[in-house]
Formats: sequence, C-alpha cells, structure tokens
Amino acid sequence: EAGALWGGRFASGPSPELQAISKSTQFDWVLAQYDIRGSKAHAKALAAAGFLTEQELTDMHAALDELSARVFDGRFVAAEEDEDVHSALERGLIEIAGVQLGGKLRAGRSRNDQVAALGRMYLLEHAENIAQLVVDLVEALHAQAVSHEGAILPGRTHMQHAQPILLAHHLGAHAWPLIRDLERLRDWKIRTTASPYGGGALAGSSLALDPRLVASELGLGEPLENSIDGTAARDVFAEFAYITAQIGIDVSRLAEEIIIWNTKEFGFVRLHDGYSTGSSIMPQKKNPDIAELARGKSGRLIGNLTGLLATLKAQPLAYNRDLQEDKEPVFDSISQLEVLLPAFTGMVATMTFNTERMAELAPQGFSLATDVAEWLVKQGVIFRDAHEISGELVRYCEERGIELHDPSDEELQSVSEHLTPGVREVLTIEGSVNSRIGAGGTASVRVAEQLATLAERIAEF
Ligand code: ARG
Repeated sequence: EAGALWGGRFASGPSPELQAISKSTQFDWVLAQYDIRGSKAHAKALAAAGFLTEQELTDMHAALDELSARVFDGRFVAAEEDEDVHSALERGLIEIAGVQLGGKLRAGRSRNDQVAALGRMYLLEHAENIAQLVVDLVEALHAQAVSHEGAILPGRTHMQHAQPILLAHHLGAHAWPLIRDLERLRDWKIRTTASPYGGGALAGSSLALDPRLVASELGLGEPLENSIDGTAARDVFAEFAYITAQIGIDVSRLAEEIIIWNTKEFGFVRLHDGYSTGSSIMPQKKNPDIAELARGKSGRLIGNLTGLLATLKAQPLAYNRDLQEDKEPVFDSISQLEVLLPAFTGMVATMTFNTERMAELAPQGFSLATDVAEWLVKQGVIFRDAHEISGELVRYCEERGIELHDPSDEELQSVSEHLTPGVREVLTIEGSVNSRIGAGGTASVRVAEQLATLAERIAEF
C-alpha cells in the first residue's frame, strides 16, 4: 500500500470508507514544513545515538531539504491514499532517498509524539503573529486616545447615561483587556514550549535518543516529564483556543459600540470609506461590516474553544484518534484572527469622532447627579441625604423637562436648603470630569498618566 505506515499486520488494504474518514491531509498539510524540520532534528538524534552514519545523516538532510523545496513549490503534494501529512512526507522522502535510507528515519519516534510537538510549533509561531496584530490594535487605540485629548463622551452603565468621561479614558478601557490577552499569550508560551518529542507512541523510546537535542533544534524547551502526558495532553491547545476566543470577545465589545456609535441616532463616529461597505440596493448605505464581522467571528472563536474542549473531555490515556480533531479548531481560530485583526485595526485607526456631538450629549440625562451628591458631601451633608437631595433635584428637573443646570437659585433652594449657588461649580462637564482624580479615574491628569503607562506596556510586547 503506497505510503501506508502500518501495512505489516494487515491482510487487506484499507477500505475506501476508512480512507475517507481517516484522512487529514486536507487540514494537516500546513504542518508539512514543521514536520520536515522535526525530521531533520530527529535524524541528528539518530546519528548522535549511532543509528545513522555521518554520511547517512548528510544524505538524509539533503533529501529532506529537497523534499522541503518540493513541498514549498508544490511539486510534492498529498496523494489521495496518504493518510496524513506524516505518512505523505515519509512517502516523499523514500521517493527521493530510497527505502534503504528513507526507511530508517521513523526509528524511535511515533506520529503521536511527532504530531503533539508539531502542533505546538505551529501554534507558537502563529501566536507571535497574532500577538503582533493585537499590539497593532492597541497602538491604534492609544493613538486615537492621544489625539483626542480632552474630548468628552457620555459614559454609560446599563446603556444609560451615567457620568461624563473622557473619550481617551473609554478607548483606554478597550486597550487594557488586550494587554492582558498579550500577557496570557506570553504565559501560555512558557507551557507550550515544553517538548513532547521523545515520548514515542506513549511509553518513551528504547533507543536512547536525546530528546533535548531534538527540542533545541526545533526551538522548543525542556522535554515534558511524562511521555504519556506528552503524547496525550492537548490542554495547551485548549488554552490557546481560549486566549484567541477572549481576544475575539474583547474586540467584539468595541465592535458593538462602534456599530452603535455609527448609527444616525448616535452619530458619534464616521467610518473611513476604505473600511465600510455599501448596499446592493440602497445607494445611501454605508455599513460597518468589519465591526459586524468582528462580532460574528467572536462567536465562531468561542465555538472553536467549546468544540475542542468537548473533544478532549473524558478521553482515556494515552493517544486516541479523537485527538486528530484538535487541529481544525485552533487552525481556524488563527486564520480568523489573522484576517479580522488587520481589518479591525484599520477601521479603528481611520475612524473619526464627532466630538461636538458627544460633548453636547454628555451632560444630558442628568449625568451630573452624582457630582451634585458628592458636592453636598463635601459641604458636610451625609451621603444618604446627599443622594436623596440630588435625586429630588433630578425629579424636579425631569418633571419640567429641564436639565440640572437650568433651575434658578431660588428653585435650587426650594428643593433643598443645602443646594446653594456654589453647586454650579460641579454642574459643568469639565468640573465633573476633572474632579474625578482618584486612581484610574477620568480626570485628564489621571488619563494622561494612564496613556503613558499604556505606551510603556505596549513596548513590552
Ligand atoms: N494524524 C494523526 C493526528 O493528527 C496522527 C497520527 C496518529 N495516528 C495513530 N494511529 N496513532 O492526530
């Protein structure tokens, strides 16, 4: 049977139905170059242990380099009967080097330790790229924040006007979760660089090959302590799927706000033409499709995580073929983020804010009521009463269809003797914003500090 790695004990070849369900080359081919790098390292370990002569090692490396070149330019591709990328590449190696040499490479390793290691290598490399794309997004948020110093936004809780805040403060609040995602990727990397190579099928190798040699050739770290664990565990895959899902969720929250801000009713932002789409029937339409796709893809990223966890649940030790299902979810999460993040960053970097409209709306909806209460506390009124008095002022204004700064001095007095004209000092947006000087608060001095810290954190990654 061409290319099959396990024909020996079988009287008949595989049925077509088996071949169809078993096959993974349609998605694991992306591991081909990692597999060849692993094979070159494994050949070194075989030579170091005396299973290949120096000449054989040289010839093996030359054949693997030739195979790599053929894979790269498409002269070597998976054949219909290849079960997976590993068996296809062994077929390719034997085509180039002959069976006498090519047939020696598999000694002392199994596809089980091989695929566990290659998956880690693939994820580690793409994680670097994703981290860079997240950094780009954080930089775009930081740049927008810095260039809108002083711009006001109606801050919301429960989607209702709550307190006026600085736009830069709000944009920073979208950046910090992404910094934590970068930290997560950094922590995840420590666990993921541990190497399963050398674990064999599950029990380890009897050929005394040096697993450290292979690991260091591949840029991996220390071999895992337990060969069974090394071949059977996919927790670092699941952790990666979680981190990518969390990135999707963090992006989706900003996406949702941009969709809302971009409505006629809000009118807070305008999207750049290059980052919005039109309608095939309604000529006037300009749609925030990138933000909507971000919202949609976050669901898909969560699905990849939950699907993978369900695959892993209750699998007995050690390797089971179920584990072949580990790859598509994480590969998909990578390719989704690799298209989503650059588009999303471009949209964020180029969107423009209608700061006048945001500032005009910020004091409406009685968003300065907390400032009135806190001003009363500073005058010696206990907070319980201050809250009550401020609430009565809100009701007074709401009944008359006016805002908090509209009542005359006499009207203020009629609501409460404590509401002296001095209260007007906090009934302005600037007064309110700049009074919030507590740690992490919206006062411009605090926000400026925060943005400086954010810039330092960006430089870490
Ligand atoms: N293609 C398999 C996977 O992706 C690796 C092969 C292991 N197969 C086996 N029969 N032990 O997990």
